Amino acid sequence: MPKITFTREKKTVECEEGEKLRNVAIANEIQLYPGMKRYFNCHGFGQCGECRVHVTKGMENLAPKTLLERIRIAVSWFKIGNEDKVRLSCQSKVMGDCDIETQPEFNWFGER
Ligand code: FES
Repeated sequence: MPKITFTREKKTVECEEGEKLRNVAIANEIQLYPGMKRYFNCHGFGQCGECRVHVTKGMENLAPKTLLERIRIAVSWFKIGNEDKVRLSCQSKVMGDCDIETQPEFNWFGER
């Protein structure tokens, strides 16, 4: 069973292979959404981009980005400086171990 480490929360959980990252986070009371966005989001339909995470380790252990996810990220400001590690948790299937940073901050100056 894949292990997911949520680095900000310092919590490691196991899940079934192929399970959506968003579902695993919610089941384990990991807050993906900042502030009021926990109520005002698209609820997993890949439209709002508010469930974004940084994959700090194990990107290769997530299923490839869906077309919807690629389009949503391509038109978003939040990818700037982090193009290679941003994923939408509602569109990401976990296939192996990975480390996840929830609610990533915007990378204004490229230092992260
Ligand atoms: S919940 Fe809206 S894009 Fe994932």
